[in-house]
Amino acid sequence: MADRVRVGLIGAGRIGRGHARALAGQVPDARLVVVADVVGAAAESVAAEVGAPRWSADPAMVTADPEIDAVVICASTNSHAGLIAAAAEAGKAVFCEKPIALDLESTDAAIAAVERAGVPFQIGFQRRFDPAYVKAKALIESGALGRVEHIRETMRDPAPPPRAYLEVCGGLYRDMVVLQTSNEPAVAVTHRIPRPRRGHWSRGVRILRDPGDVRMSVHDRRDDETCAET
Ligand SMILES: NC(=O)c1ccc[n+]([C@@H]2O[C@H](COP(=O)([O-])OP(=O)(O)OC[C@H]3O[C@@H](n4cnc5c(N)ncnc54)[C@H](O)[C@@H]3O)[C@@H](O)[C@H]2O)c1
Repeated sequence: MADRVRVGLIGAGRIGRGHARALAGQVPDARLVVVADVVGAAAESVAAEVGAPRWSADPAMVTADPEIDAVVICASTNSHAGLIAAAAEAGKAVFCEKPIALDLESTDAAIAAVERAGVPFQIGFQRRFDPAYVKAKALIESGALGRVEHIRETMRDPAPPPRAYLEVCGGLYRDMVVLQTSNEPAVAVTHRIPRPRRGHWSRGVRILRDPGDVRMSVHDRRDDETCAET
């Protein structure tokens, strides 16, 4: 392997641009070699911004490239499982944005491909590394807060997503709530989508009750009224 991990990034949209900036500017052990997106202009724009030497409109070219050690998948949700399997089968380490897939069968198939290949694999559940969440978890586990009866979590994303995003993300509510509740055994779930208004796509309230009887409610929205409300 080269002295720096040679990374190929697939998906040059909103989060892909963010990961490309981080890889190019904040990860000294990585070298972003190629950016790919089915929309070539998006790949070209991100590659130019961060100084990646190559771009492509063909994601398969990244997974097949022997010069690439690791693949960062930031493409649309409905493409994750196939890209994970292709990258793993080619022997690449894989980081993929959440979620793996929108159904269990595709999720299991992607995980099986990773296990067969024995490659490093991580999903972008960044809240698990968020200092505020890490501290809250430590406080709860230490008992410093006493018996926790109810956790309320609120996430606001200050702009509505494009329609094309909504069509493949599995629904905005599921898209957002997976960040906080992926491992939680839900016994009661409510989801409220208010009457559609301009720029107001979805919001959800999910109530979870774990075996220890802690209730958790998650309130997520991604719309252009967020800033005014919070
Ligand atoms: N962890 C987080 O907090 C977080 C935040 C935002 C997005 N995400 C996830 O990241 C993914 C992308 O989100 P986004 O907001 O950047 O979406 P986006 O729509 O802005 O970008 C997606 C990009 O992927 C490209 N694309 C689609 N299919 C492709 C394929 N098969 N191969 C290559 N490129 C392909 C599209 O052309 C587009 O440029 C989603 O799965 C989303 O759930 C995670």
